[in-house]
Amino acid sequence: MSAVIYHTHPSQKLHGQLRVASDKSISHRAVILGSIANGKTSITNLLEGEDVLANIRAFQAMGVNIIRNIDEQDPIYFIDGVGMDGLESPGQDLDLGNSGTAFRLITGLLASHKFSSTLTGDESLLQRPMSRIIEPLRQMGAIIDSENGKPPLSIEPCNGLTGIQYRPVVASAQVKSAVLLAGLRASGETRLIESALTRDHTEKLLSGFGYPISVSGTDICLEGGHALTATQIDVPADLSSAAFFIVAALIVPGSRLELKDVGINPRRTGILTILRRMGADIEITHRRIQGGEDVADLIITSSSLNGCEISGDDVAFAIDEMPVICIAAAAANGETIIHGASELRVKESDRIKAVTEGLQRLGIEVEERVDGMKIRGGKFLSAEIDSYRDHRIAMAFSVAGMIAKGDIKIMNCENVATSFPNFVELANQAGMWITAE
Ligand code: S3P
Repeated sequence: MSAVIYHTHPSQKLHGQLRVASDKSISHRAVILGSIANGKTSITNLLEGEDVLANIRAFQAMGVNIIRNIDEQDPIYFIDGVGMDGLESPGQDLDLGNSGTAFRLITGLLASHKFSSTLTGDESLLQRPMSRIIEPLRQMGAIIDSENGKPPLSIEPCNGLTGIQYRPVVASAQVKSAVLLAGLRASGETRLIESALTRDHTEKLLSGFGYPISVSGTDICLEGGHALTATQIDVPADLSSAAFFIVAALIVPGSRLELKDVGINPRRTGILTILRRMGADIEITHRRIQGGEDVADLIITSSSLNGCEISGDDVAFAIDEMPVICIAAAAANGETIIHGASELRVKESDRIKAVTEGLQRLGIEVEERVDGMKIRGGKFLSAEIDSYRDHRIAMAFSVAGMIAKGDIKIMNCENVATSFPNFVELANQAGMWITAE
């Protein structure tokens, strides 16, 4: 993919109604579970981002028929599920591109299979830590090879997996999901005891596909050997993508923006908690339950923000939103201190480094810490910023560009397509001013 550069120009105000890109976490899980269910699953509003498309290609390579109807406006994906034992040897490396989620979840699923597979990805994915999934999967009996605990991983056929009781070292929905997916074909019970609550889309969707699973707070348990039954899924908009519009509307004076159909899973709403603590006016309306998930419309009115302290569950429940929360902090009055956020260093880029560097270039006083940052609010100057090919860094600095003194040039933005393919189009529609080159 060739390099994409964003040029941002200060904007007047954000207004109107829009629906941001669909939820990436739910889209991945819908494809994976639909592929191993019995029967035909249909998915509306599936995220058509590069990450999910890579996931779909992986299952197609394993013999699953996944087709998209030809309606450009309202695409529906149909998956002919092959059942729990129906995946075929892919006969090629599975390239999951930039997607840590697809990589970790598919590794968990394939760990129990009777064929060999190799999973790989792009330059960023090749740097992501995988020992966190390799270790529990090996305890279950999986045969997984990796040179340094990073991709590529080779999975060899094993003699069946055995359920384990596991307490993940890192609080991670991806680790939890990898172990649960391995547990589907393992003998006996697989039990996860989380050190902290993480997003529970896998548990909710397993239930939605009719798979028996018991969940009690941080304690999750399932027994291998049951079946999934095809279902219909309508994917809500992604709060992680809405985050860029929420912060933009808050910091650009005179804005009022309505975001439709946003997933507000309580384990993902850290951004709303943090921004409200900073003084944000965010109204949640039309709350409803859709396919087991909390969904609502959000109305954002520009607000004067104040710095605050961010740690613990706040960070865990807003892990993907931290880059744009840092932009809000840099536009706020006073100081924001973030700690307990070292996981940010092993995302699509080292997000603590990328945000610190970018904000400093904008003229903001920032102190980089091992597990966070100290940010003093100020005025943004014109600058050139490297997004390090990280979609969320690119979009976060696009938001900063709306209130900068001049234009901002953001390098290496091509991976915005992994999670939010129509970001620039929607941003301009809402009153932001971004051109892509
Ligand atoms: C995700 C979980 C989070 C998040 C990622 C998506 C998921 O990662 O950062 O973007 O869909 O399960 P961890 O579970 O590793 O924290």
